[in-house]
Order: sequence, then structure tokens, then C-alpha cells
Amino acid sequence: MNGIICALRRKADPGKQITSNIRYVRRELDISFRDRYPFNDDFVTKNTIPRSIKKTSNSRVLIEASLIRKSLDHKEILKGGYNMRANKPKTKILIDGGDPDETLRIKKLIGFVDGQTTNPSLIAKNPEVQQLLAAGHRLTTEEQKDEYKRIVQKISPLVGDAGVSIEVFADLDTTAERMLAQGQEMFSWIPNAYIKYPCTHEGLRAAHVSVERGIRVNMTLCFSQDQAAAVYAATSGAKEPVYVSPFIGRLDDRGDNGMDVVRNILKMYQAGDHHVHVLAASIRHLDHLLCSFALSAELATVPGKVLESWAQGNRLPDDSFVYRAIDSKGQALKPIEYKELDLNAPWESFDLRHELTRKGIQKFVADYESTLSKSA
Ligand code: G3P
Repeated sequence: MNGIICALRRKADPGKQITSNIRYVRRELDISFRDRYPFNDDFVTKNTIPRSIKKTSNSRVLIEASLIRKSLDHKEILKGGYNMRANKPKTKILIDGGDPDETLRIKKLIGFVDGQTTNPSLIAKNPEVQQLLAAGHRLTTEEQKDEYKRIVQKISPLVGDAGVSIEVFADLDTTAERMLAQGQEMFSWIPNAYIKYPCTHEGLRAAHVSVERGIRVNMTLCFSQDQAAAVYAATSGAKEPVYVSPFIGRLDDRGDNGMDVVRNILKMYQAGDHHVHVLAASIRHLDHLLCSFALSAELATVPGKVLESWAQGNRLPDDSFVYRAIDSKGQALKPIEYKELDLNAPWESFDLRHELTRKGIQKFVADYESTLSKSA
């Protein structure tokens, strides 16, 4: 809805604060955008739209809804007086989290949630898992799996068509066969599952077989264009969209410009058949999110707190948006150059090694094991 122009088929008097005009506008907006602009009477009587009305030659009146929108504040959003579905970006928004209550809260706040991504670290942070741990209860591997299943089954009906990503347990030695067995089982937990495998040789082998079996996949811990090229090649022929998740924040953490990896992968995929969708991940702040919108990433997975701050401004980047490639201390991030890669090359030919993929796997293992009893 950013900058949308609503055409109203009736004369109105520009520059005048006439309540009947406003009521008329309200009614028309309600008809055109039911549920999107649920103005209350308070809003109608307090606000006027004088400069936003222009007569056109055929007596139609154009109203820039964005001018009306600007007068809404955060309190009105929270009261439900304004619904951000009106300003839905093209990039699908997923919540990066492991708590169904948070999903519900964010959905109420912004009006929609397209999907959700989970991982072992986020499940370990789930409030109910934390309560069990605080009470001194450590989980067996079976209990851990049951908790994970219970959590995603609660989230599943809350989200839209981008589904819920569920991550297999994998350490540095886990074989593709073991990942696949878990993926197959997890895929049966909910109707809208995407199975997360790491961007490693074994993860890609598991993904290759998964897509042949109709299991939707999300390739995680992606830090390089080579890894994304391998994802493309290993999953070619997939009947459903495959996701690849470049981790922006973790590249930023070591001084590299994580947004460049998203930009480079999107550019590289332009030459392909579009079966792989880029899911911007490890988003730490609003600028990561706005830049993902500006680059037209197909999806972005976003922590609740970043979505809360987005809800306050409800911004979409316009042509003047410039991404400031700086770290949290204001230091410039190092650019990551684009590479010419052939998407039709065999997937094994790409360089899959990346230090952050190794570290990421180790961190997920540590967080997963922190919930387990010693004997589990
Ligand atoms: O989507 C991936 C995410 O959960 C990792 O985020 O902040 O731990 O790098 P972060």
C-alpha cells in the first residue's frame, strides 16, 4: 500500500475539512481495502485529508492513502486501528523463533505472518523448555523431539504459505542418511513443513534425495555464493520451491558485508529457473530487513524484536534507500565480490567449505545438548 493511490468515483472538495467527505473516503476505503484500513470514528473526526485530494479531468478524486497512513501512530496500530497487511512487502516475512505465543503476538501486531523458521538454538530458548530446565529437568532425545514436534504443531496453523522450517539434528559427522531419516519423520509432523539441512556435502546429499521424494527443504547456514550455487544444482528438478538461507548477521559479526552474499546469490539466480528462493536469515536489525526488501529477496526470517521495531515505522524502502554497510560500532563492513559461477555444473564441484558453517553446526549442537540429560 505504500504510495498507493485510491481512485474514488465521486467529486470531493479539495482543501476543505468536511466530515461528510471524510466519511465518504472512509466508506470507500473500507470497501476497497476491507480489513486493511479499519478506521474508527475517532480517527475520522480527528483527521482531515485536505491536501491529499486532487480532482482529475474526469472528476475522479485521487487520494494518496499514504498521506492518511502517515497520520497514524504506533498506539493506533496496537489498538488495532491500523492493520499492516495494507503495507505488506513482496518479500515474505517469516518469524525466526521457537515460541508459538510470540508468533501469535507478532501476527496480531503486523496483521500477517507468512511463515516461521526454527532451529535447535531457538527451540532451546522456548519458554516451556526453559521452564523444564529451570525446574532441573533435562530432556531425553525422545522428549526433545516431542517438544520440538509440539512446538511446530502449535505454530503450523498460525502461519501462511511460506511454511514452518524444522531443522534436523546434525553434527559435523552426521551422514546424509541419518539427516534424511530425521527429515522424513519431521516432514510428517505438519502439513506445511520445510526441512532444514546444513549447506555441507552431507546436507546437500540429503537435500538431493529429499526433493526427489517431495520433501520441501530449506538449506541453512549458507555463507557463500558457492554454497548457494551447489544448493541450486543439487536440488534442480524440485517440484516445490527450495529455500536457501544466507546468514547475514554472522558474516557482519566478522567484518564481512553479509548483505552482499544475499545480493550476489539473487544476481546469480537470475540466470536460473527460479526453483530456489532466497530466504534472508540472521537478520539483526531493521536495515538488514529493509535491504532484504530492497533487493527483492523472496523471503526473510526475522526475530520478533526486529519486527516490533518495523511495526513502529512500518516502512518499505523506496528508490532512495541506501544500505549502510556498517557494523554495530559503525565500522565499514568488507564488501564480498560477486563470482561468475555456472549453475549447471555438478553440485559437488562447488567449494562448500566455510568456517562459519562449521561453527554454526557446532553452536546448534551445543544448544541442542544443553537441553539434554547426560544419559540421553
Ligand atoms: O535464521 C537464522 C538465525 O536463527 C540465526 O540468527 O542471530 O543467531 O545469527 P543469529
